[in-house]
Amino acid sequence: MKKWIVVTGASSGIGLQTARQLLENGYCVVATARNAQLLDQKFTTYSDTCIILPWDLSDPDRIKEYASLVHEKAGAVYGLIHCAGAQKTLPIHMLKSSNLTELFQINTFSGLLLVSAFAKKGYYMEGEASFLLISSLSAHEGAYGKTAYAASKAALEGFVKSAAPELAEKGIRINAVAPGVVRTTMVEKHFQQLTETQRNSTIGEYPLGLGESQDISNLLEFLISDKSRWITGQTILIDGGHTVRKC
Ligand SMILES: NC(=O)c1ccc[n+]([C@@H]2O[C@H](COP(=O)([O-])OP(=O)(O)OC[C@H]3O[C@@H](n4cnc5c(N)ncnc54)[C@H](OP(=O)(O)O)[C@@H]3O)[C@@H](O)[C@H]2O)c1
Repeated sequence: MKKWIVVTGASSGIGLQTARQLLENGYCVVATARNAQLLDQKFTTYSDTCIILPWDLSDPDRIKEYASLVHEKAGAVYGLIHCAGAQKTLPIHMLKSSNLTELFQINTFSGLLLVSAFAKKGYYMEGEASFLLISSLSAHEGAYGKTAYAASKAALEGFVKSAAPELAEKGIRINAVAPGVVRTTMVEKHFQQLTETQRNSTIGEYPLGLGESQDISNLLEFLISDKSRWITGQTILIDGGHTVRKC
């Protein structure tokens, strides 16, 4: 039986690496991001096992429609990995309802609403399904100038804890993963705003060096599989030793 996993943010970084790794390891993937052309370019070689479904997940009123389209094309899913997200530097004096809404819609609301939509009877494989949300280390130790981003990720972790017992009754596990700095397009853009000294200082705070997307996809693959069948309601930090570094 095919095991379909919905991977959002599949056109770039952690989502792209995760989707590819799952496909290579025998899973089927629904690959979503906004850029249809990029998705086509990345996933054309997997025509039988990959459904390319471009979608803007920042519209909360259309998440049910998205899930219903996935259901129509793939049937009940084995897993959901919500990697789509955005980061913004917004000092506190610049916070406004418009930029907060923009950030929370893609980082937070879409995650909660995707879980809600895919937890509908018939939309997930009962007793096997695993849902994963991507938080961030910034939700644990803060990130200067990124208050809204950190808050949007911390909200996911509160949700995961509360949702786990409710979803366990349906046979669904739910967990979050909170990475430290991983080399992706998102981080390249952030690094461009820093001086060389600031960049080196960040790199120096990671005893095992900065992360690569594969470091995260390996954990996500474990958490999506039944090898992690006794883990739910957790946020797993993955940070190359950053939080336990020698200061
Ligand atoms: N890299 C890190 O150091 C790091 C650390 C902690 C947490 N994270 C989290 O990990 C996740 C992946 O980050 P990344 O570094 O891999 O970022 P990335 O390379 O910038 O990829 C972000 C992905 O999200 C998609 N996306 C953005 N807005 C979307 C929308 N409205 N609808 C649908 N898809 C959308 C993008 O595709 P389109 O632009 O085509 O839509 C892209 O595929 C994010 O949630 C991020 O917050 C990253």
